[in-house]
Amino acid sequence: MMKQPSLDRRIQSLFPYALASLLVLGTVRLVLDNLKNNQSHFVQQFLLWEAKEHRILVNISADDGIKEGCNVFEGKWVWDNESHPLYKEDSCPYLVKQVTCQRNGRPDSLYQNWRWQPNACRLPRFDPLKLLEVLRGKRLMFVGDSVQRGQFESMVCLVQSVIPEGKKSLHRIPPMKIFKAEEYNASIEYYWAPFIVESNSDHATNHTVLKRLVMLDSIAKHGKQWEGVDFLVFESYVWWMYKPLINATYGSPYNVQEYNVTTAYRLALETWANWMESSIDPHNQKVFFMSMSPTHLWSYEWKPGSHMNCFNESHPTQGPYWGTGSSLEIMKIVQDTLQDLKIDVTFLNITQLSEFRKDGHTTIFGERKGKLLTKEQRSDPKTYADCIHWCLPGVPDTWNEILYAHLLQHYLNSRSNEAQQNV
Ligand SMILES: *[C@@H]1O[C@H](CO)[C@@H](O)[C@H](O)[C@H]1NC(C)=O
Ligand SMILES: *[C@@H]1O[C@H](CO)[C@@H](O)[C@H](O)[C@H]1NC(C)=O
Ligand SMILES: *[C@@H]1O[C@H](CO)[C@@H](O)[C@H](O)[C@H]1NC(C)=O
Ligand SMILES: *[C@@H]1O[C@H](CO)[C@@H](O)[C@H](O)[C@H]1NC(C)=O
Ligand SMILES: *[C@@H]1O[C@H](CO)[C@@H](O)[C@H](O)[C@H]1NC(C)=O
Ligand SMILES: *[C@@H]1O[C@H](CO)[C@@H](O)[C@H](O)[C@H]1NC(C)=O
Ligand SMILES: *[C@@H]1O[C@H](CO)[C@@H](O)[C@H](O)[C@H]1NC(C)=O
Ligand SMILES: *[C@@H]1O[C@H](CO)[C@@H](O)[C@H](O)[C@H]1NC(C)=O
Ligand SMILES: *[C@@H]1O[C@H](CO)[C@@H](O)[C@H](O)[C@H]1NC(C)=O
Repeated sequence: MMKQPSLDRRIQSLFPYALASLLVLGTVRLVLDNLKNNQSHFVQQFLLWEAKEHRILVNISADDGIKEGCNVFEGKWVWDNESHPLYKEDSCPYLVKQVTCQRNGRPDSLYQNWRWQPNACRLPRFDPLKLLEVLRGKRLMFVGDSVQRGQFESMVCLVQSVIPEGKKSLHRIPPMKIFKAEEYNASIEYYWAPFIVESNSDHATNHTVLKRLVMLDSIAKHGKQWEGVDFLVFESYVWWMYKPLINATYGSPYNVQEYNVTTAYRLALETWANWMESSIDPHNQKVFFMSMSPTHLWSYEWKPGSHMNCFNESHPTQGPYWGTGSSLEIMKIVQDTLQDLKIDVTFLNITQLSEFRKDGHTTIFGERKGKLLTKEQRSDPKTYADCIHWCLPGVPDTWNEILYAHLLQHYLNSRSNEAQQNV
């Protein structure tokens, strides 16, 4: 009689199959999932090791995408301190001081424990190994301002924990930051371009905030760096909203004029749209556009009668609410531009879900002009609280959970297209 092979042997005998195809791999996963923690740890290590060997190892299935017909932007925040935060602030070495609210002294941490629950489906659980598989040999680039940098950092923190030391790196090459997962030949990048088009604020650190000047019809310098990037995620909003008018050039670089912000924004997006149509290869590149990240500058908007800002807010708002800081005019301009575009851009409409999160900003536990706030500044939150940027872990992680679902959906769609073509 043949002896039952030991568990470890069974796993070993599956290795060759595991390399053969996704399907078999799924089976391996199933077998492994049934093992005790001990072994599944071993398996996790194995998967990691295998992934390094450039083989497809994770079972990316329809469950990882977005359920058809589900609007993931409609829903509510639910308390879930079991699954969230998805990483710990102090376990991610790539966060800049601006977002590490706990380290900077924020006394409460409830803001880390909310999970976004769409009404009609559940977001897939963020699995860094799956995302790295999707990013294998590819580049994911976030383009925009410091809010977008927060989303970039969030994404890096979401994946970095599964990559061993020495196999990951973060380089600053202004105006870019590049995170590399060596064994996947994958990179997650950030490109500073607060207006998307060119401006006098394009220097990554030495940029004027007050005397801003936007070149509404110039994008070539930036565009060069975006060419061929597999996944591009654009965002631009808050820099436009400083005053109702903005100095800009259009046509001649010497003819500076004051433009209505909405007019200027529309012209800039047209420039971007033209660049997209001439430079993006829709078969090999995928583009996302983030809706505006809301600000919470006036507490009377959600708490009538109060005169503060987002400072000392510890919970999301109950009902939906739309702050005056989120311009529906700008929203409409983005919508119109994307509708006219010949290239399919996925619009991630995260504004409403983030509006609930008056509790998620860095307030007085962030930076101002590159420095943590002084004691004196902290004692004056009405003047100094930052209600634009977000603590990490926090709200931008949810934007990335949604982006993740789209990236996996895209992967599934392109694989099924490939499969159909091969029949
Ligand atoms: C892949 O995972 C999905 C859901 O997690 C599961 O239903 C499916 O059976 C798995 N595929 C294989 C081949 O095991
Ligand atoms: C895990 O493995 C160790 C030895 O590798 C063993 O001593 C321990 O009992 C195992 N634990 C479980 C829960 O199987
Ligand atoms: C999670 O939240 C519940 C309900 O508020 C609380 O009882 C529990 O102690 C929390 N768990 C942790 C680990 O913080
Ligand atoms: C690594 O990825 C880049 C794109 O990000 C690609 O151009 C290059 O060919 C890849 N190298 C290998 C060895 O796969
Ligand atoms: C910053 O930019 C301004 C204007 O472009 C320039 O005059 C100044 O020398 C720059 N400062 C540094 C430190 O580069
Ligand atoms: C535009 O620039 C001029 C000259 O520097 C300045 O006086 C004006 O205030 C600027 N307008 C805006 C809206 O910033
Ligand atoms: C500027 O914008 C305001 C508000 O959107 C609008 O009422 C006004 O007509 C605009 N002016 C121009 C010149 O477009
Ligand atoms: C913050 O809010 C709590 C109640 O939610 C209140 O007791 C406390 O005094 C507030 N702190 C400050 C500094 O406003
Ligand atoms: C984004 O969502 C908001 C509210 O949820 C809605 O008012 C707006 O029209 C949406 N924008 C687009 C372009 O779909």
